[in-house]
Amino acid sequence: MAQPIISIRNLTTAFKLRSGWFPAVRDVSLDVERNETLCLVGESGCGKSITAMSAMGLMRTVKGCRVTGEVWFEDLDLTKLDEHAMRTIRGNRLAMIFQEPMTSLNPVLPIGQQVGEPLMFHRGMTRHEADEEAVRLLELVKIPDARRRLNQYPHQFSGGMRQRVMIAMALACGPDVLFADEPTTALDVTIQSQVLALLDEIREEHAFALVLITHDMGVVATIADRVAVMYGGEIVELAKTSVLFKSPRHPYTEALLKAIPRSDQDTKDLCAIEGQVPPIYDMPPACRFAPRCELREEICVEEHPDLRTRRGGKTHLTRCHVRNRVSRRSAA
Ligand SMILES: Nc1ncnc2c1ncn2[C@@H]1O[C@H](COP(=O)(O)OP(=O)(O)O)[C@@H](O)[C@H]1O
Ligand SMILES: [Mg+2]
Repeated sequence: MAQPIISIRNLTTAFKLRSGWFPAVRDVSLDVERNETLCLVGESGCGKSITAMSAMGLMRTVKGCRVTGEVWFEDLDLTKLDEHAMRTIRGNRLAMIFQEPMTSLNPVLPIGQQVGEPLMFHRGMTRHEADEEAVRLLELVKIPDARRRLNQYPHQFSGGMRQRVMIAMALACGPDVLFADEPTTALDVTIQSQVLALLDEIREEHAFALVLITHDMGVVATIADRVAVMYGGEIVELAKTSVLFKSPRHPYTEALLKAIPRSDQDTKDLCAIEGQVPPIYDMPPACRFAPRCELREEICVEEHPDLRTRRGGKTHLTRCHVRNRVSRRSAA
């Protein structure tokens, strides 16, 4: 792998609940290369958003939350920066798009001002310069009639157009890494794929790293270069997209793939996996997935499995006692 643009090392984010501290994200290590799309997948509650928000330095100021580990960006460990220094990087070199555009856009400010704001803050542009750049950005995300729409308010935009505005804002300063947290979930299916295709196209053209959080394996198949599957706050499988879809190794990944909604079914949610993601205060101590797993053996409820490569390979990692053992035997 080439030099990663961002390197997350042993990231653990815990919350203080009444009965103690509980990790929502546990020991996550992830390298993301410039110019790749990495998808973080898993059911709701698996720790995807907290991973991204922790990497962006958004969790450390949250009361009752403790972040440990390292987040390397170029030669800086972001976890060691103070909030002032972090603000010069966030929204600038690292950007994030959230799930619901209406909660991230200010309803009483014209769109142009909101897109231009990071340019004035990070690039010292004047209002006029920022407006001109905002027009260019709105055109980049294919909002028709951009100059006229600069003075309009969020409620005058459709859901899909608002999400494009969010993308324009995130791209304003030409970030090196963009975290997009389920950026299209609130949109209807055809608009979703248009927005994601656009995001992927812009990423390729502008050569930044995209970390896309989604629970939609169909989306993953079309735009991800690599996939990290999360369960119970941990990465349980990491592989190139083609490899993951062709030969998934973790039983949870297999279950996710089986749960891809078919186009003739009107459902957004994964519903084919029995049981539920455990809450952070009630995590199975060994394999997090064991209670729901068809391959469960004694060791799975006794020992916590490591995230490991199979013999001979370097890029396909799996956290499963059974599968890792079978592959070692068959390789021997
Ligand atoms: N502020 C919080 N306090 C306590 N637990 C939290 C908090 N935020 C998130 N969690 C828990 O952390 C886990 C991971 O959450 P999250 O990263 O939002 O999941 P995902 O994005 O994969 O749906 C969930 O069990 C969630 O309930
Ligand atoms: Mg989330």
